[in-house]
Amino acid sequence: MITLRIDGGTAIAVGETQTLLQAALAAGADLAYGCQSGLCGACRVRLLQGEVEQAAHAAAALSDGERARGIVLACRSKALSDVWIARLPRPVRRPRPRRISAVVAEVRGLGPQVAGLLLDPPPGGLAFLPGQYAAVGFAAMPPRDFSFAGLPGDPRIEFHLGTGGSMRLAAAVASLVPGDPVILEGPFGVAHYCPEDPGPLVLVAGGTGLAPMLSVARAALAASPQRPTRLFRVRPPTGDDYGAERLRQLAEAHPTFVVDDLPSEAVVRTAAASWEGATVHAAGPPALVESVHRAAATSPGPPAVVRADAFTAVA
Ligand code: FES
Repeated sequence: MITLRIDGGTAIAVGETQTLLQAALAAGADLAYGCQSGLCGACRVRLLQGEVEQAAHAAAALSDGERARGIVLACRSKALSDVWIARLPRPVRRPRPRRISAVVAEVRGLGPQVAGLLLDPPPGGLAFLPGQYAAVGFAAMPPRDFSFAGLPGDPRIEFHLGTGGSMRLAAAVASLVPGDPVILEGPFGVAHYCPEDPGPLVLVAGGTGLAPMLSVARAALAASPQRPTRLFRVRPPTGDDYGAERLRQLAEAHPTFVVDDLPSEAVVRTAAASWEGATVHAAGPPALVESVHRAAATSPGPPAVVRADAFTAVA
């Protein structure tokens, strides 16, 4: 018997004459569709594993480029082997980047080498998606990229600044007092939370890469409290409890949220064992993010969706 899995869900039996769409609908699975005849493209899905035979369809429903990238029409595809597919995320509207002037409300020590910068936004605030970042300029420092640590609806905009790698940044942060102006330009980045991403959510954080992961975790837990969400944190140096209290509070409020503190190599190894079909967000030192990408590319089973931006303003 040939089977079909959607976004890592349970196996669905596919009858000999059924298309993927027919098998999915017969099993009660929620798969988008429209014309059911290869004309509209509404049933486009990503083929993660397995082989399909695809019948003729309109070019407007599926382009050659999409086919080359592994997209198929569920209504025109018959399975030739066990097949794993993933729903395509609906296009997300990202807020347009803007340049605004905010005001320092508070600078708070979050760890030996991490400062929390809390800003009062101007009226109208700054729209962003959890996981995005902004270029932040203050105290004559050239703007540097920092991820939003909070959510768009929070009363204050929050960034976590790793000050261990730059004496100049540490001095600039130390000089800030409430009322000082801060220029923000953003939001930027595509590695943001998408509610429709498949599978369990895995978050991998190193250094101040924890900031965007806190933002993503809060958004995901608010939107889908039952979705398993696991955060792997590269164990901070002895005595550094940066982020520990926030993580403890989140885990207390959400039984589906699990936190693991591990050494760097173990984070990737242990995380990789649990991210079959998952969506993985990663932020932190470039070497950590690179190993997450590598592990995802070589892990067995349906590949994880990895979301990580390539900026490196972390400690
Ligand atoms: S449902 Fe219209 S192309 Fe498949």
